[in-house]
Amino acid sequence: MIRLIANNVCLDMLSNYELRPLEIDDFNSFLEIQGDALVNSPEVFGSDYHWFEHLSLLSKELRFTKYMNYPYQFLLGAVRSTGQIDGMVGFSCDYTQSKLRHKGKIWGAYVRPECRFKGIGTKLIESVIETAQNTVDCELIHLSVSTSNSDSYNLYLRMGFTVYGTELRALKVGDEYVDEYLMVKFLR
Ligand SMILES: CC(C)(COP(=O)(O)OP(=O)(O)OC[C@H]1O[C@@H](n2cnc3c(N)ncnc32)[C@H](O)[C@@H]1OP(=O)(O)O)[C@@H](O)C(=O)NCCC(=O)NCCS
Repeated sequence: MIRLIANNVCLDMLSNYELRPLEIDDFNSFLEIQGDALVNSPEVFGSDYHWFEHLSLLSKELRFTKYMNYPYQFLLGAVRSTGQIDGMVGFSCDYTQSKLRHKGKIWGAYVRPECRFKGIGTKLIESVIETAQNTVDCELIHLSVSTSNSDSYNLYLRMGFTVYGTELRALKVGDEYVDEYLMVKFLR
């Protein structure tokens, strides 16, 4: 059942979301959650909010359409019936390169702050792992996560990822450096 909601109030039930690869028609909703992510979690993404905001609409759209290549390169969204995206995660696998196509990468996991701790992040990551394993036939998945980001780190540990290294000063946000754990999950 879909409850009536204000835009900044999260749906209660995970079953009220459709988990699906984002499509070109989701572009405006994507811009909204991407802006939210770059403001609320600047340490998580390589892109900078001001840089992103100054891109032309066409550049933003071109960047977005790069991810319309399911199951190799896509953004999986947790989407309301209204089209609003409350969570998303990216997946990439360079299937054109025979030496690289055995591995995939998860990136850009983000759930709106008011929608967290309801299982959306877990469902998104689980679903991407399932696609990587059963549809793409990946052998392993890589990701990186800030060493201070215990919420996501714990989630990835629960999903079976392990740390294989640490990238020191992986990002610089203002004057602060962000170290990142490099994590891997072997699928076979
Ligand atoms: C990381 C992130 C995507 C997780 O999203 P989420 O939707 O809150 O994830 P979940 O709800 O599935 O899991 C988070 C926690 O809530 C718990 N939880 C899940 N469903 C729950 C429920 N119904 N009631 C209470 N707790 C619940 C989970 O057990 C988990 O706890 P744990 O990590 O201590 O085991 C989100 O915190 C986020 O967007 N963070 C900022 C961006 C970020 O750090 N991205 C990761 C980049 S690598």
